[in-house]
Amino acid sequence: MHILIIGAGGMIGRKLAATLGRSGSLGDHAITRMTLADVAAPPVPAGISVPVEALAADISESRAAEALAAFRADVIFHLAAIVSGEAERNFDLGYRVNLDGTRALLEAIRREGSRQAYIPRFVFSSSIAVYGSPFPDPIPDDYVLAPLTSYGVQKAMSELLLADYSRRGFVDGIGIRLPTIVIRPGAPNAAASGFFSGILREP
Ligand SMILES: NC(=O)c1ccc[n+]([C@@H]2O[C@H](COP(=O)([O-])OP(=O)(O)OC[C@H]3O[C@@H](n4cnc5c(N)ncnc54)[C@H](O)[C@@H]3O)[C@@H](O)[C@H]2O)c1
Repeated sequence: MHILIIGAGGMIGRKLAATLGRSGSLGDHAITRMTLADVAAPPVPAGISVPVEALAADISESRAAEALAAFRADVIFHLAAIVSGEAERNFDLGYRVNLDGTRALLEAIRREGSRQAYIPRFVFSSSIAVYGSPFPDPIPDDYVLAPLTSYGVQKAMSELLLADYSRRGFVDGIGIRLPTIVIRPGAPNAAASGFFSGILREP
């Protein structure tokens, strides 16, 4: 099984690459190859038993999505994103990467599949930012999405795209609405929720 991680240089991408690479399997399937992509070639985790290739690919640039789809990976983890605070500050960049980049990936997969059958598992990292507030506890599956930020809107729109591309049989998609993940090691990033990590890490 070939695994492609897009956004593999980020916090979750690095942990995922290291975990999968060290275990050598995903579910019942042996991982035979891993491709790690990010705007700059991401680091290859140490102690990995699986063959790994790390490459630079900016999903907001034309042809990058096609090049990634051409790998015909069995499972694609799409983690690349402009995080919440930055997407709010830089409207153009947020939409270009978070929405247009996601659509470009899905489209490239669809076109790849139109040449020769190809329906990869596509794991999309969404966010609880798709909800507005206030919301009930727990939030039911059918709770209305009313995001309050551009980032949340970009994630919600990408979820709809993912659902439609899955319905049409172009990908086997799943979106996961991640909550705030702490503690982010190293320097803070531009996530609006970064203060959670700061409270715990900075002392
Ligand atoms: N960490 C959290 O608390 C959290 C919460 C909710 C959702 N998420 C989502 O999970 C995913 C991973 O989050 P993270 O915390 O690892 O973020 P991160 O910022 O550490 O990693 C994101 C990665 O995406 C890459 N990227 C940005 N633009 C790109 C582009 N144009 N082409 C290719 N790569 C690009 C960045 O270089 C970075 O390495 C993101 O989609 C994020 O929105 C994270």
